[in-house]
Amino acid sequence: MKKVIYFSLLFLFLISCKSKKITIGILIYDESDTFMGEYTNNIIEQLPEQVSYTINYSENSQALQNEQLISFLQKGVDLMIVNPVDRLACKSITELCAKNNVSLIFINREPLLSDISFYEDVYYVGSDPKNQGISQAQMIANLFGSPNNLNYDRNADNKIQLLVLKGEQNHQDAESRTRFALEELNKLGYELEVLDIQVCNWRRQEAYTTIKSLYSLYGAELELIIANNDDMALGAIDYFKEIDLFKSSETFEQPIVVVGVDGTKVGVDSVNQGLMYGTILNDSLSQSKAVISLLRKILNLNPEEVFPYAFENNKFIYIAGEKITQN
Ligand code: GAL
Ligand code: CA
Repeated sequence: MKKVIYFSLLFLFLISCKSKKITIGILIYDESDTFMGEYTNNIIEQLPEQVSYTINYSENSQALQNEQLISFLQKGVDLMIVNPVDRLACKSITELCAKNNVSLIFINREPLLSDISFYEDVYYVGSDPKNQGISQAQMIANLFGSPNNLNYDRNADNKIQLLVLKGEQNHQDAESRTRFALEELNKLGYELEVLDIQVCNWRRQEAYTTIKSLYSLYGAELELIIANNDDMALGAIDYFKEIDLFKSSETFEQPIVVVGVDGTKVGVDSVNQGLMYGTILNDSLSQSKAVISLLRKILNLNPEEVFPYAFENNKFIYIAGEKITQN
């Protein structure tokens, strides 16, 4: 009899081990961000079946995100995926996770190495914004042609008159994409006249309002808009459509060249309609695959599995993206 009870207990114990759910928390800086929406869906769709998740959106408030994190940690999770509101909060986010022995994957907003290096179980997955800036410049060069005999030189001065629509100040993607796009154009031999650089926080509406007010100042000479993301490029295009300057066409033939980054669905649609000249893929599918691989590795879901990504400084994984134009 004793033996029977013993084996029944063992059996129940084994069953409960096997069906033990792994729980993770996901924090996303803001629900209205187009690119993050696609990225988040890609992550959720690929979560392994034994993982259950809860997601919170932080309404662009770091204070709210901190509370949400604390509540996740109090309830008990095995791993956190965090898209921080403010990159500089990564240190305290990591400290909290370390204290609770919870693994942590930051996405999209890159922590400083010095802010996270004290904890072994923290990683970052993001795009490669330097490469995206350089690719954007190459795409522009492709259209503008020889620096000594420019296409799209509306005022025939052999310089490119341009505006930059920048994402959030101090966001690594906004800073690097802007810097490397302009530097690469210079390297390729183009003379640039940067009419203005305006921060529009990744948002379509802000870019629309900005271009609406700048157009009266620079409209006559403006030749190029470099946007750090597709939503801001689309905001500019919304205005150009409203004033009948841009019309959809089978090939690209607009009077002003607008380029973006992301390759979101709405961004690619605009390229296909001949409105946006091109965009650089911010590859949310590949980034989400890297997040899932990392999660499987951290949680040791299949010890046999080979981990195919290379880390920089043991913690950072960067995913490149390619150019998207009509042809
Ligand atoms: C960038 C992306 C933007 C925005 C931002 C949020 O990588 O290009 O569209 O989503 O991240 O942090
Ligand atoms: Ca010019």
